[in-house]
Parts: sequence; structure tokens; C-alpha cells
Amino acid sequence: MTLSLSFFGEHGVLEEHRLHDRDMGTPPADRSRVGSAATVDVTIDGQRVTVEPGTSVMRAAAICGVDIPKLCATDSLDPFGSCRLCLVEIDGRKGTPASCTTPVAPGMSVTTQSPKLERLRRGVMELYISDHPLDCLTCAANGDCELQDMAGAVGLRDVRYGYAGDNHLGLQHDTSNPYFTFDSSKCIVCSRCVRACEQVQGTFALTIEGRGFGSRVAAGFNGNFFDSECVSCGACVQACPTATLTENTVIEMGQPRRTVLTTCAYCGVGCSFKAEMQGETVVRMTPHKNGGANEGHSCVKGRFAWGYASHPDRQLSPMIREKITDEWQTVSWEEAITYAATKLRDIQARHGQGAIGGITSSRCTNEEVFVVQKMIRTAFGNNNVDTCARVCHSPTGFGLSQAFGTSAGTQDFKSVEMADVILLIGANPTDAHPVFASRMKKRLRDGAQLIVVDPRRIDLVQSPHVKAAHFLQLRPGTNVAIVNALAHVIVAEDLVDHRFVQERCEPAEFAQWAAFVSQPENSPEQLEQFTGVPAAEVRAAARLYATAGNGAIYYGLGVTEHSQGSTMVMGMANLALATGNLGRDGVGVNPLRGQNNVQGSCDMGSFPHELPGYRHVSDSTTRATFEAFWGHSIQAEPGLRIPNMFDAAIDGHFKGLFVQGEDIAQSDPNTVHVMHALTSLELVIVQDLFINETAKVAHVFFPGTSFLEKDGTFTNAERRINRVRPAMRPRNGKQEWQVVAELSAALGAPMHYDDASQIMDEIAALTPTFAGVSFAKLDEVGSVQWPCNEAMPLGTPIMHEGRFVRGLGRFTPTPYVPTDEKSTRRFPLLLTTGRILSQYNVGAQTRRTANVQWHREDVLEIHPHDAEERGIHDGDEVTVASRVGTTTLHAFVSDRMAQGVVYTTFHYPVSGANVVTTEHSDWATNCPEYKVTAVQVSPGHSAATVEIDHPEHRLGALVRMANQIARQMTADPNLDAVAATATHLSKFWEHDMRADLARAIDGGTVTVDDTVVSAMQRLAVPA
Ligand code: SF4
Ligand code: SF4
Ligand code: SF4
Ligand code: FES
Repeated sequence: MTLSLSFFGEHGVLEEHRLHDRDMGTPPADRSRVGSAATVDVTIDGQRVTVEPGTSVMRAAAICGVDIPKLCATDSLDPFGSCRLCLVEIDGRKGTPASCTTPVAPGMSVTTQSPKLERLRRGVMELYISDHPLDCLTCAANGDCELQDMAGAVGLRDVRYGYAGDNHLGLQHDTSNPYFTFDSSKCIVCSRCVRACEQVQGTFALTIEGRGFGSRVAAGFNGNFFDSECVSCGACVQACPTATLTENTVIEMGQPRRTVLTTCAYCGVGCSFKAEMQGETVVRMTPHKNGGANEGHSCVKGRFAWGYASHPDRQLSPMIREKITDEWQTVSWEEAITYAATKLRDIQARHGQGAIGGITSSRCTNEEVFVVQKMIRTAFGNNNVDTCARVCHSPTGFGLSQAFGTSAGTQDFKSVEMADVILLIGANPTDAHPVFASRMKKRLRDGAQLIVVDPRRIDLVQSPHVKAAHFLQLRPGTNVAIVNALAHVIVAEDLVDHRFVQERCEPAEFAQWAAFVSQPENSPEQLEQFTGVPAAEVRAAARLYATAGNGAIYYGLGVTEHSQGSTMVMGMANLALATGNLGRDGVGVNPLRGQNNVQGSCDMGSFPHELPGYRHVSDSTTRATFEAFWGHSIQAEPGLRIPNMFDAAIDGHFKGLFVQGEDIAQSDPNTVHVMHALTSLELVIVQDLFINETAKVAHVFFPGTSFLEKDGTFTNAERRINRVRPAMRPRNGKQEWQVVAELSAALGAPMHYDDASQIMDEIAALTPTFAGVSFAKLDEVGSVQWPCNEAMPLGTPIMHEGRFVRGLGRFTPTPYVPTDEKSTRRFPLLLTTGRILSQYNVGAQTRRTANVQWHREDVLEIHPHDAEERGIHDGDEVTVASRVGTTTLHAFVSDRMAQGVVYTTFHYPVSGANVVTTEHSDWATNCPEYKVTAVQVSPGHSAATVEIDHPEHRLGALVRMANQIARQMTADPNLDAVAATATHLSKFWEHDMRADLARAIDGGTVTVDDTVVSAMQRLAVPA
């Protein structure tokens, strides 16, 4: 176990990692603000030091090893100058200026210690201590209190004023927040908490209320943290130099004794944390200052919601059962693995090699994912591997790869600090990617402009000190219409960066695209009928994006989870290409990935058509490389995607499934269909922490490990590979990769790893973009962003500088095809889904923490007009019915949604949001269309009759996909995607769908575009 690690800190100096990080007092100078290239030489207590202009005297002193006493200053916040403890003497200047607020000047000579300064500092400390409880020995912060440290540092031995006068010692505690306590009696009113909330988090929940002696910190109007605007990020707790704001775990357990650097296992931001431990028990999680993704910040989930790892619901022993109606039997690891292997082989013997497959998890480490896909390709002997990324960001991988040649975002998070205009589409970062949202809000407060494209008025449209310049509140399902309208304006008004296009893009395809978007039907005026967004607003937004300087696009699942998800990703890439917003800081096309390791699970070869590094299985050279390394032949044909596996299971061709860390029964759309598929299988193996909804229909349960036990790496949304280090031993007795390796061995394909680092070595040996990655390098430099190889040994923060990975950037025409999921008289509202800050995905982790206090159930947001029309009041129970299912939720009447649109989250299995979502999916990747479902909402708990999973629905989905392909081909006959998609489509035909389709067409129950038949013929797909 690694307890002490080295990192490169400021100026590339190797730092020793400690329990307490060194505080330099003030942040590094912002060179862009001081506008000078020269450095400054100053002398501190006789030592010469060279620093950046704008550096504070305090920081300059810290750089040369002199720690000036301080209380209100800390290096994560702008200096404030209130405590007067950091006084210094400067040659030639009168008085004793505060070193935290005084910038260095050339030739300055500073004295930090003198009898006069010592006297002044003791006087300041004496005043603080005279109004402070004297309970140091029993205080939770004893040993971690800056006030205590400073009293010692200035040599305070006595307080002359006594403690009898007016004081604050009787002030009440605020224990409303489940994770931290506010003890106002210990507050020194240094304002660090208030400034952290403003500058770091950007929430502005705290103020200093009152004046002079009566000044005190207040959260909201009634001073209660829980009822205030506070989002419980913990930045104020971290900034507080006293025990005023303290984690409840520290109050209960005392100070931590050791620290392990690791990575948050929630969202795709990938925040680095210090797990601060007592033995094998976590005391607190503190965001790591040098974390590349978070730079010392966190959200409520990463900092506080880790209790699920030791929740009693965790299943720690392997279990098996013959039938899902049997009781589980707890067995040894050996017995469980042998049982699973025997069953898998038996299924293959009876139903063929392709009758089994597996799903990898975006919550697991790269190493864990890699071994699962390797087991499937070698031991299972097929390519039936897919990942939960299928249901979130598969269109990202596909669309960005078409345009730029890489299936990943183009920037690092830091790049947003250089953006002049941010185009935020279908993403709600303050809830889903909170730490990145804080960074984005800071840039917006500093002057960047914001365009929000979303059916729901998300917080960023208007929040403290942030206001979007344009809010395009489009109807769900019309993203592509909006992107085409924006493109139309850019081309029609000649806002194109012609030089960039000429130098960096395929010319013929640009011309084809420009002609396409110029058509009158793509004008904002024509498309307004679909989008509902006033044309003038679209025009203004397009002009702003194209002309404001650095234009950066950020997007989320509101882009990808649509029937045209891939089209939209290519549409956004077109915008960035046309305006030259690629290949430098402050620009780019950036997916905000949902889960912690979505990027990694895709990188690791989890898709049925791709080996690690996004190389197609049909490529014989790539296959030969893997075959030589693994000693097994690999099939050249892509395997089944998740929806194909489900369909094949129902059809009886697919019989066994290994599910790694993913609750597909809750997270995948059309729950009834998914459960039908799962219960049709002979063998479901689940590897997870809890008996989740999927495990309820499983036959083998392999207990998994929490992130606190894992050893490996996660790759975040900016391609940053972060180490995940074990803070404790695996509570189930084995690392997950070991279990998979043993199952693979039992199937006759042994893997030979002593530890997870050897798996990464294999990944590096086989994957050119990872060639320079190793645990040793990550331990040395902290993190790297792929590509990391000989050409870029420290990784690649910004992609496509000078040249796209595919050579020239590629424009693709993106015809808008309205989804078939339309509101009707029977289902007149459109339901869209999203996340909430305190919960995460299917809630398996966060529902087992105190985060439930913020969100105890999923609710249905409904516009006041729609509610009134139906006699629905706030808090009423309502039934939500779509053509595939019904569910019951409580109503939350809100005008965040436009009339005709309703919204819910999907964090609780009982809500069953996915009971109502349909089988529609992205034409290229099958990513489900979670974001558009036609529904009816009625008061009360209704027993409405609903058609469930009628075979025609599946057939309908197939036909819609065929139609989409045909239209895409008409727009761009050479699109690689069409061929790839058609290959997948052909798999449906293998499962007797061909006959069904033929019958349906003959019988006139479904219609097919005329072009589809010729498309099928050209692609040699049997039709
Ligand atoms: S926890 Fe975060 S949001 Fe809440 S008051 Fe503190 S800094 Fe502000
Ligand atoms: S709560 Fe802590 S950080 Fe905030 S003003 Fe008081 S002592 Fe300073
Ligand atoms: S922003 Fe994401 S990665 Fe960071 S602490 Fe929160 S959940 Fe974890
Ligand atoms: S640390 Fe400088 S005035 Fe408080």
C-alpha cells in the first residue's frame, strides 16, 4: 500500500505528499492579469528569490521556505487582508503591511521576523484567543487547527484581557447538514468560508452578517445550512482554519492518521482525493490540491457520500443458485467460479459459441474492464462485449471519431478558463458535473458569455453572478434542427473561419456541408416550427458563438440519448470546424461524461466491434497483434450490442450474460423488455457491490470492490488517467480483476498477472495511445491525458493541435429527422430525464448515504399550465403512462420546463422512470432515446392499461433504424457509419427478424422508406 507519494508541484518541483499539504498563503500569480513576461527578484529575510510578477510577499516567502503567520489567507483563495497576523516590514516603506495582500516589487527587501512584528502578532492573537473557547484538548480540530498553530507560532503564552467580557462563546451549533457541523462560538470571522463558497464553489450561500463585534457567518436568511442555498460541497469546511466548520466524522472519530491518494468513483470529472484514514476506516475525503481535474475542489458526492462502501447491504460472499426462484447459496470463491465456468461452457456446447457475452462497467477501473473484454474475446471466444456507455455516450465516440479521428473530447478542463463563449448543450453541469461547473462559473463570472441549449431551464441559465446571454429552450428531440439552424447562420452570414477550413478540413466535404446547411429549410425561421425557439434568438446565439473569440462547446446526455444522438455530435463538430474552434486552449467539443470511467471503459475495448484503442475487430493487423499477445484467436466479426443481446435472449439465441458492476435492469430503457430478456437467460452472472435489480434475476453473484478497495486507474472526461489506490483491503477478499482472471482460467484461458500494474503494462503494450502509461509514471507525475506515448510522454491536454488525428477535419451533412416518438392525443406530453446533484445514476451508492436527505424520491416536474389542466397540485401523486409502461411519481409543479414537457430523474428503482422509456435509439449506436418519451400524466395512482413490449415495437424500432440509415445514406453515401450500422442491423436479420419484417411490410403494418431497400442492397444486407 502506498502511503507516501511524490508529485510534481509548482515549477515542476518534486513534492513529498503529506497528510497536510503545505499552504503557500495565496494563489500563484495570474500572469494574464499582470500582463508582463519578466520575473521579479526580491529578498526575504536575506534570501534572494525570483518569482512571477503579481506574486504576494507571503507566497514569495513561502517559496523560499519562510512561513509567515497567517489566518485569513490560504492559497486556494484570493487574499483578503483581514486578520493582520501576516504583517512584515519592507525596506523603504512605512508601517507593517500585510504580506498576503502586498505584491512583490523588483528589488524589494522584506523582513518577516523582528521584535516589533512579534509583538504586533502576539497582540492580534491575544484578541482572537480572548474570545475563543479554551477546549483545545477536547476539540475535534486539536492537532489540525490553524488558530492553535498560530498561537504557538507567535509565542502567545497568556491573554491579558481575561474571558469575562462580551464574547461569542454561547452561540448555538448548526447541525442541520448531515455531514458537517457549524459551531459559531469558534468562529474568528476570517471569511475564508464565505470566500470559498464564492470563489471556489460559486454558490454564494454564505455571508458575514452584522458589523464589528456582532459580525458572524450566516447561511441563508435563517442561518441554517440545510435550508440555505448551500450544496454541501464542503469547500467552506476545508477552508475553515478553526473547528467552526468540521466534518461530523472528524468530530466522531478524531483526526486521521494516514492518507492515500485516490480518485472519486462518481462522475466523469474524476476528482483526486486524499482518503484520510484511521487504520482501514475512512475519516474524511479531502480533495487533492494537485488533482489535475479538480485542483482541490469537490462536490457533496465525492467528499461526503462514501459511506456506501461500508454499508451493511454490501454482499461480501460469492453466491450461486440454480433458478432465480431458488434461495441464494453462499459458497467459496472456488465453487462460485467453477459453477459459473461450467454453466458457461455447457451453454456454449448446447447453443453455440456466440450464445454468451458480457457487459463491462464504466464504474470499474480500466484494468478491471480490460480483463473482462479480454475474457470474452479469448475465453468466451466471441466479441459479444458491450458496455454501459452504450446507453450514454456511445454517440460521442462515434460522432467525434467521424469528424476528428478520435473518440474523445478535445480539451482538458482547464481549457474552459480561456473560453470567451461557452455553448452548453444538453448538459446540466451544476448537478451532474459539479466541480467542472464551479470552474465554468468562475470563467463566466470573469467575463465569458454563455449560450444554453436545453429543454429545461437549468441553474446556469441564471444563478448568482451568472446569466446566460441566450437560452434556447428547445423542444425535446430537436437538437439537430437547432445545430443546423446555428450552422445555417454561420454559413449564410459568412461567419466561417475560411483560413481554418482551408488549412485543416476536407474541402469537398466542407462544400457539401455548406451547401446543405445553406438550404432554406435549415434556416432558423423554417426550423422554429420544430424547435419552438425564436429564430432571432438562434441567429443571435450563432453570431455570438462564431465571433466572440474562443468558442467552446460542452455537452452531455441531452445530446447523445436521442435517435439522432450521433448526428448531433457530428453537427456540433461541424460548428467547431467551421468556426475554427479546435486545436487550442479555450475551444473544442467536449463531452461531459456521466460515470467515472465512461471514457476508460470505451478506451479499453468494450464495444463489440472494437479492440482496445478503438481498433476495429475486422482489421487483421490489429487482431494479429492481440492474438500474438494473448495466445488466442479473435473473431473478425463484431459481436452483439446490449440491445441485440436482449433481443437475442428473448428470441432464444443468447443464453448467458456476465454483468460487471452495472444495474441494467434499472438503467436501461423499457424495463419490461429488459426484464423479459434477463429472465429469458439461463445464466446471469453479476459482479457488484449490492444485490441490485439485475442481481435479483441472477444465478451467480460475485461480490465486487468499492473504489476504496480497488487498485487501478480511471479515465475521466478529459482523457485524464488517474490512479485509484486501495485505502483498505478488498472486503470480499479479492480484487475484481482477480475474480475475472480466475473465471477466465477456469474456462481455459488463463491470465498471468501478479497485480493491477501488470494489466496496465499490457494495455500500454497493446494500445498506442497508452504506450507511455504505467503506474510508476502516474505515481511520479500524478496523472496523464492520453495520448501518452513516445511523442507525448506527459500526455496530451489539448487534442488536434496543428492536425487532426484523422488528418483533415471532416464535415458531415446532418439532416434533421424528427424522432418517431411524437406527442399524440393519447400521450400529449414529452418526458425528458436527467440527474440531480445529490444522487448518482441508479442511486445504488448515494441512496445508501445521507445524501437521501436532499432527494428522497424522484419527482415529476410539470409546468403549472399542464398541471392545472389535469387538476394536479404540487406534491400530488400522479401516474405517468407511455405506450410501453406506467409509473407513479409525486408532482413538482415548476416552470423550469416549457409547457408540454415534463421531467424526472431516475435514481430510485421504485420510481421506475425507465419503465416508461421506449425502445427508440440512436441510429448509429443504439444509444437509447431516454430524452424523449411521449407520455400522459394523470392525477392519482392509475391502473391504466398499457401495451407492453408488443413484438411490433421491436419490429418498429428495426424499421426506424433502417429508415434512419437510408436517410443518412442519401445525405452522405460514403459515411463509414452507415456501413458499420448496417453490419449491426444485419444481426437482427439473423434472429428471424427478416421474416417478421417481410411479413409486416407485406401486411402493410409497417412502412419503409423507398430508399431503404436500395440501401440494404448496396450494403449487401439481406433484405
Ligand atoms: S458547503 Fe459549499 S455550498 Fe455550502 S456553504 Fe460551504 S462552500 Fe458554500
Ligand atoms: S467559519 Fe471558519 S472560515 Fe468561516 S469565518 Fe469562521 S473561522 Fe473563518
Ligand atoms: S464532481 Fe464528480 S468526480 Fe468530483 S467529487 Fe463530485 S462526483 Fe466526484
Ligand atoms: S493572513 Fe494576511 S491579513 Fe490575514
